[in-house]
Amino acid sequence: NGVITIDPGFKNTGSCESAITFLDGEKGILRYRGYSIEELAEKADFLEVAYLLIFGHLPTKEQNDKFHDDIKAQSIVDEDIKKIIEAFPKSAHPMGVISSLTSALTAFNPSSVNVNSEEDMYKSVVKILGKFPVLVAWTYRRKVGLPLDYGDNSLGYVENILKMMFSQPNACYVQSEILINALDKLLILHADHEQNCSTSTVRVVGSSHAGLFASISAGISALWGPLHGGANQAVLEMLESIKLDGGDTKKYMLKAKDKNDPFRLMGFGHRVYKNFDPRARIIKKAADEVLGNLGIQDPILDIAKGLEKEALEDSYFVDRKLYPNVDFYSGIIYRGMGIPTDMFTVMFALGRLPGWIAQWREMRLKKEPIGRPRQIYIGETERKFVPVENR
Ligand code: CMC
Repeated sequence: NGVITIDPGFKNTGSCESAITFLDGEKGILRYRGYSIEELAEKADFLEVAYLLIFGHLPTKEQNDKFHDDIKAQSIVDEDIKKIIEAFPKSAHPMGVISSLTSALTAFNPSSVNVNSEEDMYKSVVKILGKFPVLVAWTYRRKVGLPLDYGDNSLGYVENILKMMFSQPNACYVQSEILINALDKLLILHADHEQNCSTSTVRVVGSSHAGLFASISAGISALWGPLHGGANQAVLEMLESIKLDGGDTKKYMLKAKDKNDPFRLMGFGHRVYKNFDPRARIIKKAADEVLGNLGIQDPILDIAKGLEKEALEDSYFVDRKLYPNVDFYSGIIYRGMGIPTDMFTVMFALGRLPGWIAQWREMRLKKEPIGRPRQIYIGETERKFVPVENR
């Protein structure tokens, strides 16, 4: 009707109809394709969940095997990718590296941009699921100075990710069930979260018919920020500084409440969850279990629990319905697994990959129009150009 309403941050604007993820922020419910996140985290594996999100149903054994085989067949990248990785300084933030490498995949697979059928889509889907873990592992290995090599395709998807990251030359890599299960669970819990910032980015970029890899590269950039996926790194850095500061949580609570202080309690608050984040509950329990099983006593876990307790009893947080989110405890598990802090958001991207793919695929199958919001212009109306010498 020509009337434009402004909704900064899209707080009350729906951008699409979607059948992928159901989220009830008041009740703290999260379901992928109708299955509760609690049940999936307990009983499914990450690749089954990826299939579920992308294709809408849990795979049969046969479908699961074929999916895994098709992904394995794609789990190799062009050798020239190594040249790109080597051109980055070792100090580069891994999110910048992984976003660039994902974008570069289009250069090595130009046909992936042409999406004329479901079969074309499927090819891009298995390609990115096969190649992305290699890029993640190589980003990490380059950072820590390990040779860039491949994993072992006879292993399960998540098991192979760990091997690709951590195996060392001249040393037998021993798989740890604790780490495999912990990573499987974390990846499942991150796999989709409806129209968040990065997913909306993937859909908007994809709506111009840019290819899947370019769309996902844009999603990775959106995820990087500390208000979104980058919060997991920011949480750990915050907990570390509280520890260095003598564990004075009260001081940081005051800072978080002070409107003149830019400090926020990282890992707290959510645009949609106004009761609790169901993922945070599962991850908090997993943090206790994983660290316990690995025999690690990490003092920052106690600091995190202390902060949570204080916040849940503080009227500032209670009134604003601010609760721990998915990023509050995940970094403590990643750290226990030996993953460096600046790789945490890359691990989030690895988990979110199936969700981005599913949302991109849904958007393309529904032939959604190009994403193109309007604005209300508030600038000068009309001005005459003045040559530079007369200004
Ligand atoms: N610490 C202190 N105050 C906060 C916090 C926080 N973490 N989060 C929100 N508030 C306050 C905010 O200042 C505002 O107060 P007031 O009404 O007095 O102005 C009120 O709560 C509402 O916050 P908002 O910023 O308007 O809410 P939003 O929906 O725009 O932002 C958020 C949501 C997640 C960006 C925000 O809560 C935040 O910055 N949290 C910390 C960063 C974080 O943990 N991000 C991860 C989000 S979950 C996973 C993901 O997306 O990857």
